[in-house]
Amino acid sequence: MLTARENAELTQVGPGTPMGALLRRYWHPVAAAVELHDDPAKEVRLLGEDLVLYQDRSGGIGLIDRFCAHRRVNLAYGIPEEHGLRCMYHGWLYDKTGQCIEQPFEETVRPEARFKDKIKMKGYPVQELGGLLFAYLGPQPAPLLPRWDLLVRENVYRHIGSAVVKANWLQTMENSLDPIHLEHLHGTYMEYVLRQAGGGQLTQNQEGFLRFFKRQHLKVGFEIFEHGIIKRRVLEGETENDEGWRTGHPILFPNILRLGGGLLEFQFRVPLDDQHTRNFWYGCFDPGPDVVLPPQTVVSLTEVPHQRADGRFVTDFVDAQDMLSWAATGLPTVDRQEESLGESDVGIILYRRLLKEQMGLVQDGADPMNVFRDPARNQYISVVEEKDFYSRTGTKGADAIKYPEAAWYGPVVEALRKVLAEV
Ligand code: FES
Ligand SMILES: [Fe+2]
Repeated sequence: MLTARENAELTQVGPGTPMGALLRRYWHPVAAAVELHDDPAKEVRLLGEDLVLYQDRSGGIGLIDRFCAHRRVNLAYGIPEEHGLRCMYHGWLYDKTGQCIEQPFEETVRPEARFKDKIKMKGYPVQELGGLLFAYLGPQPAPLLPRWDLLVRENVYRHIGSAVVKANWLQTMENSLDPIHLEHLHGTYMEYVLRQAGGGQLTQNQEGFLRFFKRQHLKVGFEIFEHGIIKRRVLEGETENDEGWRTGHPILFPNILRLGGGLLEFQFRVPLDDQHTRNFWYGCFDPGPDVVLPPQTVVSLTEVPHQRADGRFVTDFVDAQDMLSWAATGLPTVDRQEESLGESDVGIILYRRLLKEQMGLVQDGADPMNVFRDPARNQYISVVEEKDFYSRTGTKGADAIKYPEAAWYGPVVEALRKVLAEV
């Protein structure tokens, strides 16, 4: 249980808040690169700030205030120029730093005033890596954009899923510090949902992964390591010598989940504001050393469904069930004065403690965990991974990139099959 003040401190991400200050020390994915291919300017929200992301005609990417400093129209309707974005209303032109560099009428009638020099909006750095566009909203000098292994690993086939969920970011992360839900939400509840849909019957595939997901947790453990928290579990039929305990799987501080096994996935939990989180499922399929994949030119993006037209949550695959747990909480930000934590929640308590400690470091002027400034330490940041945790669900080959029931991965599996057939 937290006090109202503690809950606010951990969940509010806007400028001037302690958590906002901590999260502003990190690069966050603001879009998939492919999102700017059809339309070069896009509204985005990040850490409670309204911004516009755009690509200019020289290929440079900018992230500036969404509303023009002149008379406040939305610059997502602006015109990308060779260098900068021009407002469609009266033609003021802004560069990537948010500096106004042209003001057509003002320069005609009163050039000596140099009014444009006084107009500076927000402008944040953006970098592309592995098909994602990362933005940094914090103080300068900006740290290095972390080269986490899957973002730069060679000979893999990448794909990105995305969903914006009406839930505070902390709910999404606390779900990852909670191993027990695997057995209940993705096991018992999954079976209930699938049987209802199948008239009481399950397919062989469904039986296969439910046998795995429904196993009882005998023990869970958590440990802080250099990049975050490792979570460990012993399932029924296993011992501490098995991978689930020996290796465990990591949560990269502050807001990335890393899955191993057949999945090879990051989940970036990006706080758009206090009430909305954009989740990016950043998946990689590694065909192994014997298959050389052709270079991947475009990393595709798929919207992951989680709510039907009538507002009901989707409940029949793992990612949707997780989103259900983040968002079906009555309030966008859970009232943690009302919670009742038990033994299953020690990971959540540890994570909150770590967040608090790292907020303190930032307040004292120090760099928090996972802020990298030494290029030698940022070539390829290797992360511990369970090799076969999810492959024990019985799925193999191209299908093993995701659970067989996750329909939204269909196009990705198809594209991958095509690539594999051609090599
Ligand atoms: S409102 Fe943008 S130039 Fe006038
Ligand atoms: Fe889950």
